Amino acid sequence: MQTSLTHKLKSISSFDEYKKSYNRSVSDPESFWSEIADTFGWHRKWDKVLEHDWTIPKTKWFTNAKLNITENCLDRHLEHNADQTAIIWEPNDPDKPSKQYSYRELHSMVCQFANVLKNKGIKKGDRVCIYMPMVIELTVAMLACARIGAVHSVVFAGFSSDALATRINDASCKMLITADGAYRGTKNIPLKNIVDEALHRCSCIDSTIILKNTAQDINWVSGRDSWWHLESIGVSDYCEAEIMDAEDPLFILYTSGSTGKPKGMVHTIAGYMVYTAYSFLNVFQYKQSNIYWCTADIGWITGHSYIVYGPLAVGATSVIFEGIPSYPDYDRFWQVCEKHKVSHFYTAPTAIRALKKHPSSLVEKYDLSSLQVLGTVGEPINVEAWQWYNDIVGNNNCPIVDTWWQTETGGIMISSLAGITPQKSTFATLPLPGIQPTLITPEGIEILETEAEGILAIKFPWPGMARTIYGDHDRYNKVYFSAYPGYYFPGDGALRDQQGNYRITGRVDDVIIVSGHNLGTAPIENAINQHPLVVESALVSYPHEIKGNALYAYVITYNKDEKEEELHTEIKEIVSRLVGPIAKPDKIQVVTGLPKTRSGKIMRRILRKIATDDIGTIGDISTLLNPDIVDEIIKNKK
Ligand code: PRX
Repeated sequence: MQTSLTHKLKSISSFDEYKKSYNRSVSDPESFWSEIADTFGWHRKWDKVLEHDWTIPKTKWFTNAKLNITENCLDRHLEHNADQTAIIWEPNDPDKPSKQYSYRELHSMVCQFANVLKNKGIKKGDRVCIYMPMVIELTVAMLACARIGAVHSVVFAGFSSDALATRINDASCKMLITADGAYRGTKNIPLKNIVDEALHRCSCIDSTIILKNTAQDINWVSGRDSWWHLESIGVSDYCEAEIMDAEDPLFILYTSGSTGKPKGMVHTIAGYMVYTAYSFLNVFQYKQSNIYWCTADIGWITGHSYIVYGPLAVGATSVIFEGIPSYPDYDRFWQVCEKHKVSHFYTAPTAIRALKKHPSSLVEKYDLSSLQVLGTVGEPINVEAWQWYNDIVGNNNCPIVDTWWQTETGGIMISSLAGITPQKSTFATLPLPGIQPTLITPEGIEILETEAEGILAIKFPWPGMARTIYGDHDRYNKVYFSAYPGYYFPGDGALRDQQGNYRITGRVDDVIIVSGHNLGTAPIENAINQHPLVVESALVSYPHEIKGNALYAYVITYNKDEKEEELHTEIKEIVSRLVGPIAKPDKIQVVTGLPKTRSGKIMRRILRKIATDDIGTIGDISTLLNPDIVDEIIKNKK
């Protein structure tokens, strides 16, 4: 590998430089990206930077280049920074000690486990499913796969056995790596039991490796199961990296579609590496010796790109947290920030809103003076949550990066660069260099005025984009490239201000037509949320004899004893005022929670079924963050 780092990746350091980089990335994308790619280690450089044809659709970056991503994430830091901490691991239980792993230690753990995988017969191209808690071994297992060219498919360890089996079978995984159990707040989740149930339905799995984590009793299937620690005894920690093609798959990660089975998004090695490293460094403005913490689970794309690959590719120090924000109390995040002197903190609006419900003294009792940059991801952040994050957590002193992107995009697409480009509350703001967003009409016509609202679309390839849906390129074409030919279609609506800043308004598939009027759910929910007693709301439709569709609003309030009738009248009045009388909800139900996916998205499909009294077809709710809420909402429906 050419390990020379003389062109080490540098971040943009002024708004002017951003504008220059952006313009260059549009006028000459190939030289723009090849200069960035030059700062990485390659066994062979590319013949061509980009080849694409979105009518097929096909996108290839760095054609014929050869590399191994783990050499870029680990080996190349060993020369000068071997003893630098790569990962600080913070356990679920605050009374247990945290652990630190240097780049040297992580390298050695990855190489040793890569040899274990080889000993178990795993080869380049094999798919390996990983179903693990947020322990260091999860990162080690992913990188060990990448070391030998196996394709990892991480399944979030909160998913049910059904969800796990579907994903294992879809990718025909040969091996499964798991743990006996997982700690999560006060719970001890029996992962191995869930795996045993799933594997009854998965004939593709030859072997499993089990990490001893909670030391609970487990069922043992001899001939199939083996212990991580026993398999590692006497195994060398030297493992030559497999030389991979730039466009070989690195991983599969499942994301739910609006219909049908989950989509296994396939990310390839070189483009993903270049894009996650570049976006990480620029968005967060990470500098040597900063301590970065992303609270996402590695089972989601945020964890893949901004806990594992992006930060390690640039030699960062990150925190990996095993626990949850509410255990032992709602101050756990801030306690961890103080303890590890976190400088960069990246979380989701759903967590911010949950924590905001509690007294700000829970934040203020900690010394958060180390914080420099705050980040948010996953859904639009409402003004109130943004303000609280800015004032109470950031002490009015930290830039907030509102990062818009998706599992499919691999990395952050639209966001301010912390402290470098202007931020605007609730706006993701400007695209990163290399990203060409635009707004289009429902007919697919590009909207040329700067200040406008429309459907978000991307005009040009970027290195981090998913290349296909595993085993179903046709579906990839249909979902992302056929609705509006010539564009990548992310499925979101957005508005753009005079300066070209984008604000993501929500999914365009959540539009409801009432009496012939197109109503977006997001503006109505925003109006409802303006009521001083409303914490959060979700709006769905149900069939109505005269209007076609009527509106059903579920609202969470601060004070559960509020007189409901008065509240209903006031909410209708606010919506009528802010959006229009046509948008007034026909029914309002006060609830204590909303059914959400593990990544914090409201499951409108379920709420729609309840509103429509179509409870029999709700289906599997075991993958929800809070399945119990569904029964509660049904019971209290009037
Ligand atoms: O609707 C957008 C929303 O989350 C979707 C992508 O979800 P997922 O693939 O699970 O990835 C989440 C983590 C990257 C998008 O289509 N979304 C994500 N970030 C934002 C957002 N909506 C508004 N603002 C954001 N910052």
